[in-house]
Amino acid sequence: MLRESERRQIYGSGMDLCVAIGCDWLLLFAVVGGGSVCCWMTLGWDPKQGEGHLDAMLRGEVLTALVSFGHETTLNEANRRFHIFLEDRNTPVLPPDLRKTVYVAIMQNVSKSNRSGYDSVLRVYRETDLSQEKTRILGSIASCRDPEIIHEFLNFLLSSEVRSQDVVFGLSVSRDGRETAWNWLKENWDHINRTYGSGFLITRFISSIVSQFSSYEKAEEVEQYFASRMESYIARTLKQSIERVHINAKWVQSIQKEKHLADAVKELAYRKY
Ligand SMILES: *[C@@H]1O[C@H](CO)[C@@H](O)[C@H](O)[C@H]1NC(C)=O
Ligand SMILES: *[C@@H]1O[C@H](CO)[C@@H](O)[C@H](O)[C@H]1NC(C)=O
Ligand SMILES: *[C@@H]1O[C@H](CO)[C@@H](O)[C@H](O)[C@H]1NC(C)=O
Repeated sequence: MLRESERRQIYGSGMDLCVAIGCDWLLLFAVVGGGSVCCWMTLGWDPKQGEGHLDAMLRGEVLTALVSFGHETTLNEANRRFHIFLEDRNTPVLPPDLRKTVYVAIMQNVSKSNRSGYDSVLRVYRETDLSQEKTRILGSIASCRDPEIIHEFLNFLLSSEVRSQDVVFGLSVSRDGRETAWNWLKENWDHINRTYGSGFLITRFISSIVSQFSSYEKAEEVEQYFASRMESYIARTLKQSIERVHINAKWVQSIQKEKHLADAVKELAYRKY
């Protein structure tokens, strides 16, 4: 039996890896392997009496993980709470540390053919004066799976409605939006270069969008694109981002070899809890 602290550590590193290579089942594996989905779900939505500080902190992360891999009960509860929140921004059913979960849940259901959730989340963005809430929303919208919505959202990031230092929060898009984000970066590169100049922020565009890739081919494509645009102010970031892609690619290769592991995780994923 793993101790609680060890479980959390495993969960944490699984999470990092998933973010790096955008692999949902690996995240599930981390959760299942590090304890069990049931155990994590006992954290629930509402604080329990006498619970530790860690439980409170983890609650949002665990719920966000559950909605990201489509856990239906959690999605429905998120939806319910979001609609209460839309009517009353001070409702106790949606404290700040659970809002990300709910925004991410709403964005999972958004597509070009039904964008109502996106419009509602944007409305919250426009109506709040709190910059922390705005950045939380930008990061959540990026989890949308619909490439067309992601494209529209990336353009929104460059609009006057988003402070330039906040743009980076919206750049870590979902796996399904990665290719869109890369194409968008190339299309808008001259504009971004002109707007952000040689400052620190421009490097964040590269690291956020490029580092998520996980194939050697993509790494080469990125290198080629920037070969004719190489400037000292992006060189280091570019090199680090490419290294990251190589590491991700190696991971993906080694995981693909572990066929039985993938099968076991898939089976767990389809089990009903
Ligand atoms: C997602 O959309 C479907 C169909 O539009 C709906 O039945 C379901 O309740 C929605 N889920 C959430 C979490 O909004
Ligand atoms: C669009 O999505 C919302 C939220 O998920 C849902 O309540 C609504 O029924 C959907 N509309 C259509 C036309 O499917
Ligand atoms: C940014 O624009 C300047 C001026 O047009 C140009 O000299 C420079 O090479 C561009 N940098 C990148 C990285 O594209």
